[in-house]
Amino acid sequence: MREVLRPLISADEIAKRVDELASEIKRDHKDNSITLICILKGGVIFMVDLSRKLDMPVEFDFMDISSYGDDVVSSGIIKIDKDLSNPITGKHVILVEDIIDTGQTLSHIYNHLKEQEPASIKVCTLLLKRERWEVQDVPPDYVGFEIPNDFVVGYGLDYAQRYRNLDYIGVLEFVEG
Ligand code: IMP
Ligand code: MG
Repeated sequence: MREVLRPLISADEIAKRVDELASEIKRDHKDNSITLICILKGGVIFMVDLSRKLDMPVEFDFMDISSYGDDVVSSGIIKIDKDLSNPITGKHVILVEDIIDTGQTLSHIYNHLKEQEPASIKVCTLLLKRERWEVQDVPPDYVGFEIPNDFVVGYGLDYAQRYRNLDYIGVLEFVEG
C-alpha cells in the first residue's frame, strides 16, 4: 500500500482562520488572562500559532493522554500520561484540540479539568468531523473547520507519528501498488 496525500486546507487558509479564532477569543476574554491547555501532541502547532495572535496575558499548559483500542475505532478508555503542571482553579481556561472525531477524548478531558473548578472552560478545536461526532456533551466554542469523514494529517496531526510538520492539512489515502 502506498500513501497518497490530497491537499484539503492550505497553509494560507489555516493562517486566516487562526487569525479569526484569535479575534473571537480576545473578544470573549477582554479583561481576563487565559490559560491555553494543549493535548499533546496533535494540538501543539495550532496552539502555538493561535497564541501568537493573542495580544493578552496567556499561559501554556500541556496534557498527554493515551487511548486504548484499535487504530480506527476509539475505545473510549483514556489514560492520562501527563497531567497539568500548574493548578487551574479559578482560572479562565481554553482547551485547545487538534480534532474532534468521536468526541470521546474531549469529553473525558473536559470533565477532568472541570474537577479543578476553573473560573471558565472554553473549547477550541481546529477541526470537527461532524459526521463522526458521537459524544456531544461538550460542544466546542470555537471551531476552525468542519471536515468530511476522511483521515487527515498535517499541521500537528499525524499518521503513525509522521506528517505533523506539514504546514497544510491533507487527506491521507492508501492505494495499491
Ligand atoms: P476522538 O476521541 O474520537 O474525538 O479522537 C480524537 C483523537 O483521535 C484526536 O485527538 C486525534 O489524535 C485522533 N484522530 C481522529 N481523527 C483523526 C484524523 O483524521 N487524523 C489524525 N488523527 C485523528
Ligand atoms: Mg490527538
